[in-house]
Parts: sequence; structure tokens; C-alpha cells
Amino acid sequence: MSTLKTLLIVYHSMTDGTRQMAEAARAGAAAESGVNVRLLHAAQAGAADVLAAHGYLFATPENLAAISGQLKDFFDRTYYAALDHVNGRPYASLICAGSDGSNAARQIERIATGWRLKSVAEPLIVCSHAQTPEAILAIKQIGVEDLARCRALGEAMAAGLALGVF
Ligand SMILES: Cc1cc2nc3c(=O)[nH]c(=O)nc-3n(C[C@H](O)[C@H](O)[C@H](O)COP(=O)(O)O)c2cc1C
Repeated sequence: MSTLKTLLIVYHSMTDGTRQMAEAARAGAAAESGVNVRLLHAAQAGAADVLAAHGYLFATPENLAAISGQLKDFFDRTYYAALDHVNGRPYASLICAGSDGSNAARQIERIATGWRLKSVAEPLIVCSHAQTPEAILAIKQIGVEDLARCRALGEAMAAGLALGVF
């Protein structure tokens, strides 16, 4: 039987910024040999994926001062099936925002608190600073320094899981 720990990264993205952040975290985590990394779009992730993982990265845009509808749908579909089965597992969040991101971070924190997950990092928020409707709806390109931060978070999560330090 495999003793590898699994890091589950669940994301949604409308204009690709969050996807790039989640992919960078995945790449960082994959550099740690002792961990199985699963990157799933929120629409593809279900309760079985949550139950089978040992740690979590939740990645979302902040839309209308909230997590994206599809990440909310993921939590709605999985919350009660996982409740009381994931206590104490580590998590962190990745937020792609225009200029804020704090409400999305707070929402994830509340849901994670309900699941009794353990926060192991501050929410990593990247702001695009898009202001006009055209800029907000345009495909994003996350900068290399921000992608490096996401990569480092993925790596740290994976290392912590592999070493059993969380
Ligand atoms: C409908 C909509 C609502 C948004 N609301 C917010 C918001 O409340 N706060 C914020 O900081 N950015 C807001 N934004 C900007 C997005 O968070 C930003 O464009 C981000 O890059 C989206 O991530 P994505 O590229 O992964 O889709 C909004 C964007 C859209 C399309």
C-alpha cells in the first residue's frame, strides 16, 4: 500500500490567473518526491478527492467580494460528506484578485474552520490591478515573482506533508 501523502489543489479560474497560480503551486509541490500532487478543477473535484487527500490548497479568484461560484459549488457538494473526517489536516489558499482578495480569503478560512482544518500559511493573494471592464475580462498573466511565491507555497506544503510536520 502506498505511504505517499496526497496534496489536493482545487481551483477555479475565469481569466486564467488563478489557474497559473495553482499550476505554479503544483509544480513546486511536485518537486518534493514524497508527495502525490493532484490538481483538480473545482467542477471535477468531489468529496472522495477531499477524503483521500492529506492536505489542501484552495485556489480561487475573488469575484464580487467572494470566492468564485464554482469553488463555492465544490464546497457545497463536499462539505457535509467530509465533515468530521478531515479534522486537523493542513490547508492554505491562493487568491487571484483585482485589488482586494480579503473577502475570498476570509470565506475560505470560515469553511476551513468548519472542517477543522489547520491553516499552515497566510492566504497568498495576487492582485492584477485591472480597473476597466475590458482589463478585468482580459486573460491575465501572473508575474514571475508572484508565480515563484505560489511555487514556494506548493513546495512548502508538500515538504511539510512528506515530513509529517503539520
Ligand atoms: C464579476 C467579477 C467580479 C470581480 N470582483 C472582484 C472583487 O470583488 N474584488 C477584487 O479584488 N477583484 C474582483 N474581480 C477581479 C478578479 O478577481 C481578477 O480579474 C482576477 O484576475 C480573477 O482571477 P482569474 O483570472 O483566475 O479569473 C472581479 C472580476 C469579475 C469578472
